[in-house]
Amino acid sequence: MTVLVTGGAGYIGSHTCVELLNQGKKVVVVDNLSNSSEKSLDRVREITGKELDFYQVDLLDKENLTEIFKKHEIESVIHFAGLKAVGESVEKPGLYYHNNVTGSIVLFEVMAEFGVKNIVFSSSATVYGDPASLPITEEFPLSQTNPYGTAKYFIEIILKDLQTADEDLNVAILRYFNPVGAHKSGKIGEDPIGTPNNLMPFISQVAVKKRPEVMVFGDDYDTPDGTGVRDYIHVVDLAKGHIKTLDHLESNPGFVVYNLGKGKGYSVLELIKAFEKASGVEIPYKVVGRRDGDIASSWADPAKAESELGWTAEMGLEEMCEDTWRWQSENPKGFN
Ligand code: NAD
Ligand code: UFG
Repeated sequence: MTVLVTGGAGYIGSHTCVELLNQGKKVVVVDNLSNSSEKSLDRVREITGKELDFYQVDLLDKENLTEIFKKHEIESVIHFAGLKAVGESVEKPGLYYHNNVTGSIVLFEVMAEFGVKNIVFSSSATVYGDPASLPITEEFPLSQTNPYGTAKYFIEIILKDLQTADEDLNVAILRYFNPVGAHKSGKIGEDPIGTPNNLMPFISQVAVKKRPEVMVFGDDYDTPDGTGVRDYIHVVDLAKGHIKTLDHLESNPGFVVYNLGKGKGYSVLELIKAFEKASGVEIPYKVVGRRDGDIASSWADPAKAESELGWTAEMGLEEMCEDTWRWQSENPKGFN
């Protein structure tokens, strides 16, 4: 079985490639390397001892994308490719809609031309906006707070409509909570270009002295210690969720949506403390004002994925921090 992984050189994509290859699947990666390095795929080959095919192609380039579908007998697609910086999406909404939404439409058109009937899409907990209560189930109302989230929402709706029009199409929407951690080998991990937007890579860059201190965005939220609470999930657990989802698509489920989270929330200060314990390094921090668009708390009800996919996020916060630290301390400059 050949799986096309769009955005496979990126953070979650590379970890998923490892799990796919370990399962004996053939893997073809399409990535324009706008936010990643091809070296991640060399590391995937090192970890697994297996080959994969890589094409540096933009999803917007329909001609070259079509060539890949001609060359490989693709059975399923895992669609990670997209830009993901929330703040940048507010400044450059056109770029986000074009790259993420149009890029997805081009991919869906080529899939349809070649009769590819299985797709797993990387959505995000951001589609729930500021939830009225917790934990968040898949039935919660959706709302948008920034163009990145709106693009995710649009792509979900487009996939829903495509599936309604073609009942042979199997679509799994995976709404990730907060992916952190790295592969146990320390060979692949998150390698953000420029200043990290997310908390965990910021903490780990402070730990290797690349940055002086963590800015804690607000300590006046309605949470136990006043800082934002999120559902952190180990990226390898998340990658394994994709394998379970692909298996599920073989039973022709139609259109399905799953939350992939651990189901437990930790505050910013709890994450900092857990990282200090795992690394043995003190993490200086300073409380600053709230970040625009942030919500107080978010965590998943992952029960649906557990019962229908037979998947649960197994690793806890300690392992998430230990594995992030191994990756960051062994690769202080990322893949460079
Ligand atoms: P990432 O930036 O590491 O990976 C995305 C990859 O897509 C990159 O390698 C990038 O080069 C590639 N890409 C972007 N636009 C492309 C295009 N037009 N054509 C070809 N390749 C393109 O990000 P990630 O953290 O691995 O995220 C993967 C997916 O999961 C994204 O869709 C993201 O929105 C979603 N997601 C991520 C998080 C998170 O916190 N990391 C949370 C929820 C959802
Ligand atoms: N935070 C800080 N300092 C930082 C970065 C973050 O205090 O330097 C805080 C935030 O205020 C929040 C928490 O740490 O309370 C987590 O923030 P992240 O930026 O790591 O994660 P978010 O929950 O804001 O967003 C992430 C992805 C989104 C995705 C969402 C849900 O960036 O793309 O998870 O999956 F939509």
